[in-house]
Amino acid sequence: MTDLSKAIHLLNEDNLVAIPTETVYGLAANAFSEKAIAKIYETKNRPATNPLIVHIASLKELDRVGKNIPDVAYELAKVFWPGPLTLVVEKADLVPLLATAGKSTVGVRMPNHSLTLELLSQLNFPLVAPSANRSNHISPTSPDHVKNSLGDKAPYILDGGNCQRGIESTIVGFDLGMPVIYRLGALSKESIEAVLGYSIKMVEAKSDTEVLAPGMSKKHYSPKTPFVLTESIQDELKNYLGKKVGLMCLKEIEGLAPNVIQKVLSPTGNLDLAASQLYATMHELDAQQLDVIIAEKMPEEGLGKAINDRLVRAASQ
Ligand code: TXA
Ligand code: MG
Repeated sequence: MTDLSKAIHLLNEDNLVAIPTETVYGLAANAFSEKAIAKIYETKNRPATNPLIVHIASLKELDRVGKNIPDVAYELAKVFWPGPLTLVVEKADLVPLLATAGKSTVGVRMPNHSLTLELLSQLNFPLVAPSANRSNHISPTSPDHVKNSLGDKAPYILDGGNCQRGIESTIVGFDLGMPVIYRLGALSKESIEAVLGYSIKMVEAKSDTEVLAPGMSKKHYSPKTPFVLTESIQDELKNYLGKKVGLMCLKEIEGLAPNVIQKVLSPTGNLDLAASQLYATMHELDAQQLDVIIAEKMPEEGLGKAINDRLVRAASQ
């Protein structure tokens, strides 16, 4: 059996498969099967209040999983799919409430990974897939990350290599037909606004329990190692003299003491590249028994905003 036919077989039998996407690995199940969806919540230890994203392989499938879809949603889908944009629309009856955590809306996206698009095109159903990590842990951008996070609960992993974009999709919902951002991600706010021709709002969840987009809850994306976010690395380092420090910074910093392990996210300061390296670097430093990981705040532009969003959550207690 090829890898693909094994994945198809497992999914047809209501089992889970970890799938590659351009953002992060997903823990996938038949979006129309409650039995399969329940396994996702159990495996991830995910709160039942946190809805899943439905993955599709063609634009016409959007009408199968959603309804009353605003024109502007099609406009964005046509430009950015396949790609790291999730659209939250009214859900069609076919999608079980278990997939949407009881909500009348559903998050939908077409991932940009050839293996997963091929997989989806050979199935009779779309796939629900949250990131393939245990709840509140760092998202996985490689098959090894999936194995390490889910341990003996890890399902069959369809190996599509390292994720190219390395940070989750940007989530856009619609408020009276107007696009609003629920979660910053691999598609920058600026790129969406350039297509729309107007600026869009960010909608913040008011509390950790509010189910607007629970991916936005504070305690998320956390490494096990104490994690500090700073705008001034040199000042922060003074607090950890002689300690084992992992330093995650945008560009290289010279003249550091030998107790500091430095990881540069992009030597040229490219924020897209930095975003793609973020989780892999956090996984790598988290495995090194360090006393602390110090992360440098990124410039608040382009994907810098999405990176800072993840860093703030990782640093929150
Ligand atoms: O890039 C991604 O989006 C990855 C890959 C696998 O596609 N998936 C991902 O899934 O990040 P997850 O479950 O880790 O995050 C999904 C986020 C959650 O914060 C959830 O609350 C939000 O999407 N979401 C899903 N359906 C929603 C809905 N109907 N309304 C508001 N937020 C929703
Ligand atoms: Mg996640």
